[in-house]
Amino acid sequence: MNTRLFQATCLVLTIMLICPSLTFAQELQTVQLLEPQTDGGRPLMQVLKDRSSSREFSNEKLPMQVLSDMLWAAFGVNRPESGKRTAPSANNRQEMDIYVATADGLYLYDAKAHMLMPVLPEDIRAKTGTQQFVQEAPVNLIYVSDFSKMGNAEENKKFFNSAANTGFISQNVYLYCASEGLATVVRGLIDKPDLEKTMKLRPDQKVILAQSIGYPKK
Ligand SMILES: Cc1cc2nc3c(=O)[nH]c(=O)nc-3n(C[C@H](O)[C@H](O)[C@H](O)COP(=O)(O)O)c2cc1C
Repeated sequence: MNTRLFQATCLVLTIMLICPSLTFAQELQTVQLLEPQTDGGRPLMQVLKDRSSSREFSNEKLPMQVLSDMLWAAFGVNRPESGKRTAPSANNRQEMDIYVATADGLYLYDAKAHMLMPVLPEDIRAKTGTQQFVQEAPVNLIYVSDFSKMGNAEENKKFFNSAANTGFISQNVYLYCASEGLATVVRGLIDKPDLEKTMKLRPDQKVILAQSIGYPKK
């Protein structure tokens, strides 16, 4: 090892020893979501009247209660005794996973624990779609199907069921957003191979759709 390289290595090791918080600042923490507030929301018929897609987002972050309620509405556990969810799934396979891309990093929604599990300590929002606004929305959900949970069905059947199941989840998010005055749009315009690579998904995990969520731009 030459002298310069040796000195640089010593400097890095010293910084790591003196300031471990700097070294691990990039680490993403598990987030315990708040219990969903199931007594809120506007009447269903009014919410249906307001449901729409919007593509202009303020960069204001979602409060923790709003994020927690939105994810529970999307595909949370609503019957703990059976583990069943707020959206149906073919044969109750529950193969859809919701990844949550924020400025802080990428998380996986664990519905049973109602927690966000860290996946990547990077802001990958710009990679979740080919439209400009996706990097401005504070939250982009990525709906990923885990084909390994779908038995021996043919691949086109797996895609069909995953797409149908994603539609129910996405509509739950639309209705929650309409109730709360949030802007949202479900999206298929995604460079899927690039996103799957960025997210480090396994070959049997497939990106189906994404959905941007945030407060409307003022
Ligand atoms: C499967 C699917 C894929 C979509 N993909 C996109 C998309 O990539 N980008 C986008 O801006 N909107 C996308 N949309 C939203 C539609 O453009 C939108 O629902 C449609 O224009 C009707 O508007 P509304 O939702 O306000 O009724 C998609 C909708 C669906 C159901």
